[in-house]
Amino acid sequence: MKKITKICCIGAGYVGGPTMSVIANKCPHIAVTVVDINEDRIAQWNTPNLDNLPIYEPGLKEIIRESRGKNLFFSTDVDKAIDEAQMIFISVNTPTKTYGKGKGQAADLKFVELCARNIAKVAKEDKIVVEKSTLPVRTAEAIKNILDHTGNGVVFEILSNPEFLAEGTAIDDLLNADRVLIGGDDTPAGKAAKNALSDIYENWLPKERILQTNVWSSELSKLVANAFLAQRVSSINSISALCEKTDANIAEISRAIGFDSRIGPKFLNASVGFGGSCFQKDILNLVYIARSFGLKEVADYWEQVIIMNDYQKRRFADHIIQSLYNTVSGKKIVLYGWAFKKDTNDTRESAAIHIADALMDERAEIVVYDPKVSEERIYADLDYLETRTPDENRTLLKVVSNPMEASREAHGIAVVTEWDEFKSYDWTKIYELMLKPAFIFDGRRILDTQNMRQIGFNYYKIGEA
Ligand code: NAD
Ligand code: UGA
Repeated sequence: MKKITKICCIGAGYVGGPTMSVIANKCPHIAVTVVDINEDRIAQWNTPNLDNLPIYEPGLKEIIRESRGKNLFFSTDVDKAIDEAQMIFISVNTPTKTYGKGKGQAADLKFVELCARNIAKVAKEDKIVVEKSTLPVRTAEAIKNILDHTGNGVVFEILSNPEFLAEGTAIDDLLNADRVLIGGDDTPAGKAAKNALSDIYENWLPKERILQTNVWSSELSKLVANAFLAQRVSSINSISALCEKTDANIAEISRAIGFDSRIGPKFLNASVGFGGSCFQKDILNLVYIARSFGLKEVADYWEQVIIMNDYQKRRFADHIIQSLYNTVSGKKIVLYGWAFKKDTNDTRESAAIHIADALMDERAEIVVYDPKVSEERIYADLDYLETRTPDENRTLLKVVSNPMEASREAHGIAVVTEWDEFKSYDWTKIYELMLKPAFIFDGRRILDTQNMRQIGFNYYKIGEA
C-alpha cells in the first residue's frame, strides 16, 4: 500500500468542507483537495473574507485560516484531484428520491454513482475509495461493481467511513469524535486500506476510538445511529403532548429519566420537531430497506418516528391558531429562527418551514428573523414546497433583519430555533411593542416561564400546561 500523501474529497458541502479542513489541519504531511461541480460553492470556500464561507460552523474559519493554501485546497478541477490522490472520499449529497421506484423513501444514489464513474474514468493508479456520504446498506457493492469494470487494471479498495458530526458543533465533533467507524473487506488488501485510513485519524484521535467493521455493518450503523437519535426526540416529543394535558412538566421528566445511566441525559429536549438534512432522510431509507426485504413490522416501527415528528410540527402550528382565537388570518406572527437548530445556517427540513407553511395556509402574515439564514434561502425553502406561488409566498411572508422591530404590532411570536441571542432580548420592550394580549409560543423551551408571565405575556412552552 502506497503512503497516503494526497487526498481528494468529492463534495464540498456541510460534511466534505469541515471534515477535510480538520484532516488537513491535523495532517500537515497530507495535501487535501476538496472538489465540487458547484463553482459558486468552491469560490465561496476560496473567499478571502472568511466570514463569507459557504457554511457557518463555529471554529471552522480559524481552521481554514491555518490550513487553506498550505495543504488544504478547494477546486472545481475534479479529474485532476482524482488523478493525483491515493485516497478519494465521496462526500456528495444522497437525498431522498423524488421520482420513480422508491420515490419519497429510498436514497437517490445518482450523485454517488456519477462519482464512481468519474473515478473509474480518470484513475490510472490503484486507489482507496472512501464512502463518506450516508448510504444504504450494500451500496459499496454497487460502487465496487462500477470500479471493477474499468478494464484498465487499476485496483480499488472500497471503504465505508460514515460521518457522525452534527451541524453547529461539527468542528468539535470532528476533533473529539466519540468514535470513527471504518468498514472494509477482511482481505489483506482490505485490512491494509482500513489501516491506512485509521492512520489518518490516529493523528489526533486515540486508536481505541477507531472501530473497524465489515462494510455492511458500517453502512447500516450510520442509518441506525441516526434512527436511534431521532427516535429519542420523537419519544420525548410524544410525552410533551401528554405533559400539556396532565400538568406534568417535560423538563422534569427528561431530567428524571435522564438520570438513569441506562437512558442518559442527552437528546431529551422536547422541541417543535427535529429537522436537518439527515434524520428524516435516513429513517425513510431504513424503512425502505426493511420493507424491500419484506420486514413490514420493522419498517412500520421506524416509520412511526417520522409520523410522530410530523405530528409535533402540526401540533405546534395548531396550538398557535387555537390560541389566537381560532383565526390567524391577517394576523402578524413573528418567527424567531428559521435554521433547523442553532449555530448553523442550514435550513434543510427545518420545522420552521412547515410551521410557516401551515400558518400561511390560514392566511397569517408571517415575519421571519434568523441571525444566519438569508432571505433568499427562506423563500427558496417555501417555494420548494409548491404549496402556493412564489409571489404569494413573498406577499404572505417577510424576512427582516431587526428582531425588535419585527415584534411591533405582532399578535404572536413563535420561537422555532434555539439561538442563544433570543434569551437575552429585552422581552419587556418586545411586550410593549406587541399587540395585546401578546402571545409567545416557545417551541424550544429557552425562555423563563415565570419571567415571561410576569412581563404580561400569554406564554406557551412546549411540554408544559
Ligand atoms: P451537501 O449538499 O451540503 O454537499 C454535497 C456537495 O456535493 C454539493 O456541494 C454538490 O454540489 C456536490 N456534488 C454532488 N455531485 C457531485 C459530483 N458528481 N461531483 C462533484 N461534486 C458533487 O451535502 P452534505 O450535508 O455535506 O451531506 C453529504 C453526505 O453526508 C450525505 O450523504 C449526508 O447524508 C451525509 N451526512 C451529512 C451530515 C450533515 O450534518 N449535513 C452529517 C453526516 C453525514
Ligand atoms: C445529526 C446527528 O446528531 C449526527 O450524529 C449525524 O452525523 C447527522 O445528523 C447527520 O447524519 O446528518 P444534525 O442533524 O446536524 O446531526 O443535528 P442534531 O443535533 O442531531 O439535531 C437534529 C434535530 O433534532 C435538530 O432539529 C434539533 O433541534 C433536534 N433535536 C435534537 C431536538 O429537538 N431535541 C434534542 O434533544 C436533540
